[in-house]
Amino acid sequence: MDPTIGAVARVFSGIKPTGPVTLGNYLGALRNWVSAQADDDCLYCVVDLHALTVPHDPAELRALTLELATVLVAIGIDPDRSTLFLQSQVHEHAELAWLMECTASVGELRRMTQFKEKAGDHEFVSAGLFTYPALMAADILLYDADRVPVGDDQRQHLELARDLATRFNHRFGPTFTVPEAGIPAVAARVMDLQDPTRKMSKTEESPQGVVLLLEDPAAIARKIRRAVTDTGAEVRYDPEAKPGVSNLLAILGAATGQDPCVLAGKYEQYGPLKADCADAVVELVRPIQARYAELASDPGTVAEILSRGAGKARALAGPVLDRARAAVGLLPR
Ligand code: AMP
Ligand code: TRP
Repeated sequence: MDPTIGAVARVFSGIKPTGPVTLGNYLGALRNWVSAQADDDCLYCVVDLHALTVPHDPAELRALTLELATVLVAIGIDPDRSTLFLQSQVHEHAELAWLMECTASVGELRRMTQFKEKAGDHEFVSAGLFTYPALMAADILLYDADRVPVGDDQRQHLELARDLATRFNHRFGPTFTVPEAGIPAVAARVMDLQDPTRKMSKTEESPQGVVLLLEDPAAIARKIRRAVTDTGAEVRYDPEAKPGVSNLLAILGAATGQDPCVLAGKYEQYGPLKADCADAVVELVRPIQARYAELASDPGTVAEILSRGAGKARALAGPVLDRARAAVGLLPR
């Protein structure tokens, strides 16, 4: 019998405070963070160290970090059930990242498509942007995570984290749990409403194509109604041939818990699909926005949650880091 059946899994995931939370973040990852709490032992991290890999403004980073932590509580991350914390408040992350940088090869980091996209032809590309996936592996491995709920764009980084854990265990003896990715069947890649061949992203300069979780509901509805759709009037779930319509079907499906292919059969025209999609997203964000407004009026509450979370995270991360240090031959402190 599989000894893990019936056992509580350890879940870990992270999100960068590099911009306001999007509908893509929510449908692709965050709502699964919330649902995992029912059965599993979850740790959720605002990965502020990852935000330093690209040029940023310090005051803006502070504000975005607090806003993101508040959003996580507003969507239903329950600090009594889960551990919610800031990456930079648990120094074990930066320390294990060094061991992971020494486990990863330059060749495999160079193959990361997100690095290639983000480095682009920028004049300044930080070394941190290059080693970013090693820090992400450290985040996950520090907590013996079994499962990591993420959107589809993190698949390759997750695969690298698995490879690094396996390589380390092979070289130095069993040390880390090899994690699995938890990628949703629907809405794993929510696309930009104005360019449905591109991922909806919080750092994209595409205000009309990106829906923000805290945005005015009327503006959200307007953006969805004005989404770019495809040539031909047929409503069909076919992300290759009909990326615009399929994106709306995936959003509506994820927001209402229905299969996008089944949903497609209910519509003959784009207009009613857009109207239903807009209504469903507005219904989804309304209670989140109300809860956010309550929490934001008392920032002390979130600060206290984060401080408690960091304490709990440190208690778990410390022994794992010690295990890894000993395995590679570092003397105890
Ligand atoms: P990030 O904003 O890059 O820190 O991403 C946080 C989480 O949201 C990760 O698990 C991503 O995979 C997920 N995510 C980001 N953008 C999208 C999107 N457009 N569709 C689905 N998931 C996304
Ligand atoms: N790289 C992830 C992203 O861009 C964020 C992240 C950092 C993360 N560390 C993590 C996600 C650990 C899951 C687990 O979305």
